[in-house]
Amino acid sequence: MIRRLPTRRPGAGLHVTPGAAWHYPRNSARVDAPGGLGGNPPESHILGNMLIRRAATQADAPLIAAHRKAMYAALDKSPETALDAMSVSFEPWVVRVMGEGKYFGWVISDAGKPVASAGLLILDWPPDPVDPRGGRRGYLLYVFVEPHHRKRGLAHDLVEMCLAEARHQGIQVIALHGSDAGRPLYESFGFRASDEMVFVLPEG
Ligand SMILES: CC(C)(COP(=O)(O)OP(=O)(O)OC[C@H]1O[C@@H](n2cnc3c(N)ncnc32)[C@H](O)[C@@H]1OP(=O)(O)O)[C@@H](O)C(=O)NCCC(=O)NCCS
Repeated sequence: MIRRLPTRRPGAGLHVTPGAAWHYPRNSARVDAPGGLGGNPPESHILGNMLIRRAATQADAPLIAAHRKAMYAALDKSPETALDAMSVSFEPWVVRVMGEGKYFGWVISDAGKPVASAGLLILDWPPDPVDPRGGRRGYLLYVFVEPHHRKRGLAHDLVEMCLAEARHQGIQVIALHGSDAGRPLYESFGFRASDEMVFVLPEG
């Protein structure tokens, strides 16, 4: 699914994916504030102060890996051994890309226990007709909410953070692979299915 963010001057460059409904992130007023992380503070109370949302750090690599594994387990029922092998190589990868400033993550905690997380990966991407300035594309990754905390707007909050960060970085096109459970949420932000095809080369 692909979403193109509106430029900072609505109307002058509102190149919307055909049929897309546009919604600025609710916190878009803070997008251009200094301080990185989309101009958002590294830690905020949300849902009437009940939960804390904070920026992920490299120390969160095991948590991000665990949420990612739970997400894949929910999606494609991959064997546990394959998911564990994936997590072993994933942790150093996410530590590296965070260190390179290519991955921005957020974690929501309830009484100190992480219950949801998501991340935005910044990709090198050539200019194309959708984004003629090009150069970079955002990829929304690993949106996961623990079952007991679903349907409270946590995923919505995390996606807003990722989109705010993308705007802060001057990135206009955001892509993701949406699960059936996540699709209505992403569509409510304006994401639309694209015509991307994928081929996995056989080994050997
Ligand atoms: C998909 C997933 C991330 C959604 O998380 P979530 O926190 O429940 O999402 P939200 O609460 O922001 O939104 C979900 C729904 O709850 C509704 N909702 C939000 N706050 C609500 C509230 N206070 N009361 C009732 N409903 C509410 C939203 O309107 C939304 O409705 P919709 O599905 O009809 O659009 C979560 O189910 C999950 O982790 N699933 C497994 C992994 C997965 O599929 N991840 C996505 C990979 S692309």
